[in-house]
Amino acid sequence: MNEVLKTMSNHRSIRHYLKKEIPNDVLEQIIGAAQWASTSSNVQAYSIIKVKDQARKEKLAELCGNQQHVINCPVFLVFCGDFYRLSLAAKMENTETNFDTVEPLLVATIDAALVAQNVLLAAESCGIGGVFIGGIRNNSKEVSELLQLPDYVYPVFGMCLGYPDMKNIPEQKPRLPLQAILHEEIYQTENQEKYIEEYNEVMKNYYETRSTGKRSETWTENVSKIYQAPRRLHLRGFIESKRFGFK
Ligand SMILES: Cc1cc2nc3c(=O)[nH]c(=O)nc-3n(C[C@H](O)[C@H](O)[C@H](O)COP(=O)(O)O)c2cc1C
Repeated sequence: MNEVLKTMSNHRSIRHYLKKEIPNDVLEQIIGAAQWASTSSNVQAYSIIKVKDQARKEKLAELCGNQQHVINCPVFLVFCGDFYRLSLAAKMENTETNFDTVEPLLVATIDAALVAQNVLLAAESCGIGGVFIGGIRNNSKEVSELLQLPDYVYPVFGMCLGYPDMKNIPEQKPRLPLQAILHEEIYQTENQEKYIEEYNEVMKNYYETRSTGKRSETWTENVSKIYQAPRRLHLRGFIESKRFGFK
């Protein structure tokens, strides 16, 4: 395995950090490298808000559902879908813009996700760990106000970054078998249940034996609960308030 593959294959979300700053030049190197992520039509429809201020992190932690690691990490990044910059570009060119369809929302969300995964991977290659924080969408309006996000800019997820506390490194969370997610030529439904059952065994063993948060649960028991009820119903109204549409 080359170094990139090794780094990728060693990923785990890190939620416990040393009390050690990430030097600004290191962070800028990481984010600068991550910026080379591919981006739809080179629109680069994202912005990253770097938050280090303790009081602001505390407020964000609360808005993310009281996630302690948001307070404890030295750097919290908020990845936003951003068409504000494009709206400025269009103004400079005296052209109209139309953000009334689902497409720009997908474009900005995908762009934000691509750059964010690059940031995490680059950080991991520098011995820094982190975790995505989807909890940022629990209270999108309040987060948007706190970070003074303009029209056409919405938070997609946050990311805690910091040097891992080696006393608290979690075991790797196993993934589905490769064959479950990789289909040859056409979508293969035949063996999905078999792969899921195999994975249930693996995950049950992982939950039962991991060093913290031990419990007895399979993957299907865990994930089937997540989408029992509609989630984050406020998002549609919030996104509309940011002047996007759903046509
Ligand atoms: C978009 C996204 C949102 C996430 N939100 C949270 C979160 O709010 N809090 C948290 O502790 N972990 C969060 N995670 C981390 C996942 O729980 C984690 O990636 C997953 O369980 C797999 O574990 P691993 O990253 O250690 O392999 C999020 C991950 C992603 C990709």
